[in-house]
Amino acid sequence: MRSPQAISGDAILSSVPQVDHSTPLAAELASDFRRRLELEHAEFPLPDQTRVFTVANQKGGVGKTTTSVNIAAALAQTGATVLVVDNDPQGNTSTALNVAHHVGTASTYDVLINDLPMSQAIQRHEEIENLLVLPATIDLSGAEIELVMREDRESRLRTALAEYLRDRSRNGERRLDYVFIDCPPSLGLLTINAFVAAEEVLIPIQTEYYALEGLSQLLSNIELIRNHLNPALHVSTILLTMYDGRTNLSVQVAEEVREHFAEQTLETVIPRSIRVSEAPGHGQTVMTYDSRSSGALAYLKAAQEISNRGKQKGN
Ligand SMILES: Nc1ncnc2c1ncn2[C@@H]1O[C@H](COP(=O)(O)OP(=O)(O)OP(=O)(O)O)[C@@H](O)[C@H]1O
Ligand SMILES: [Mg+2]
Repeated sequence: MRSPQAISGDAILSSVPQVDHSTPLAAELASDFRRRLELEHAEFPLPDQTRVFTVANQKGGVGKTTTSVNIAAALAQTGATVLVVDNDPQGNTSTALNVAHHVGTASTYDVLINDLPMSQAIQRHEEIENLLVLPATIDLSGAEIELVMREDRESRLRTALAEYLRDRSRNGERRLDYVFIDCPPSLGLLTINAFVAAEEVLIPIQTEYYALEGLSQLLSNIELIRNHLNPALHVSTILLTMYDGRTNLSVQVAEEVREHFAEQTLETVIPRSIRVSEAPGHGQTVMTYDSRSSGALAYLKAAQEISNRGKQKGN
């Protein structure tokens, strides 16, 4: 039986006018309002096992960090326990999640190079409960070269993460539901470590010119990793970012991506939104900075799709 609250939610929903495309602003407001009501009653099923995602695209500035932090925040806000690993020397994830990452802070570098247990470097997000962050400092820029010398150079992150998950279980702490590893815009050893540590790859694609350029190289690298180092690795999720429905270009790029990757591409697209780009400057995710903005609602909807897909696959 449905709760009275759900019924009244449906009633309100059906009273919202259908989208009127003749006035873009009104259309956006109505569509945001509908989405907000829908999401208020939405379920975010938790996975049966920890799902580990590598967020990768060697193209720079396509929304890897924005996607990592906002999907992670959305899932944590809706009840999941989530770890974000900042695996990029730029440290943008650490900035957006407002955790200390000055030189000298225990970080991904220490985990990869100095065998520091992850638990000694992970910080808690100050606002969102259940959101954990492994920060990156600028030291990480040297890690690519230092890793070359190591025999287990490709699997150090996987080993460290597996130990951390085991420790949590031994200590009676809640199992992590999701791990998101935010990668630098390159296909070097840091990204390879992320591919070896994860099962799922999330590729953000900016709906712009050249969006698909370089994608075949990314996919063939993933294939190589799958054949030699991590048979479980697969591209489970593609997310279209910085979408502008008013331009033919965005629409065309989105169509082309869906043609090639029908199964992997989320229905939800992330609109280009000023609130999304402003949030990191305030040390916030858009989920906390402006939870009613179209960018936050889109990330919440995308997070719901990710959590539903995990349930369907029996993850
Ligand atoms: N939906 C959006 N609307 C507006 N601006 C956005 C959106 N998504 C990302 N941006 C902005 O675009 C820029 C690049 O985004 P982001 O840092 O997430 O990309 P990235 O792929 O992680 O970059 P890098 O390759 O340097 O790691 C940032 O300034 C970010 O604030
Ligand atoms: Mg980034």
